[in-house]
Amino acid sequence: MEKKLVVAIDGPAGAGKSTIAKLAAEELGYIYIDTGAMYRSVAWKFLQEKQVFSPELVGRLAAEMEITFKPEAKLNRVFVDGTEVTEAIRTPEVTEIVSKVSAVGEVREAMVAQQRRMGEAGGVVMDGRDIGTVVFPQADLKIFLTASAEERASRRHKEMLAKGMQVDLQQLQTDIEARDKQDCEREIAPLCCAEDAIYLDTSSMSILEVTAKILHLVREH
Ligand code: DC
Repeated sequence: MEKKLVVAIDGPAGAGKSTIAKLAAEELGYIYIDTGAMYRSVAWKFLQEKQVFSPELVGRLAAEMEITFKPEAKLNRVFVDGTEVTEAIRTPEVTEIVSKVSAVGEVREAMVAQQRRMGEAGGVVMDGRDIGTVVFPQADLKIFLTASAEERASRRHKEMLAKGMQVDLQQLQTDIEARDKQDCEREIAPLCCAEDAIYLDTSSMSILEVTAKILHLVREH
């Protein structure tokens, strides 16, 4: 029987990780886990509380909440304690605070424990910032996906326009660069390319080209 791998896909915001990881997982018959959605869920829960930010508070919320995924053809539905948050975790309010929430050690501990449980049996494509470095340092295949900040902002801009959301392209690029800086410079589990990851700059590649490349790497394994 074919061995079911753990495939770790890391990289900065807007590199196309979630679209590509989802497509690759579907093609392989693997489970897709969007760990960014998990940190966004903690940020969403914190905003619901309407309290002053503190590491203790977000740490406690992260430890107590249950995050589940329901994969569907076009999207990966996300639930927090049974409430659907698929759309709610993509709002600008959540995006603005998520880097701060995800920098808290207790939050990361709680999420990493859940992620390890979800992936321990293999047959999983997991995307995030620290999958190949912290969550699954022994992953069978590690990919670091990136693209220029300009290209990533332009992709996000198109995505948002398609959803009918009006946003300034330059502002998007500034926000992406600020988030990159926060994610790369945080003390715990900063965004970085694992030594044994395959580095893919997707600036001039299409989604299908990148997905095909990853499928090839998995099958070659
Ligand atoms: O991939 P995304 O933009 O949905 O991720 C949201 C935030 O969560 C991002 O700013 C960094 C953080 N994150 C993280 O710290 N570790 C992960 N494994 C995934 C996301």
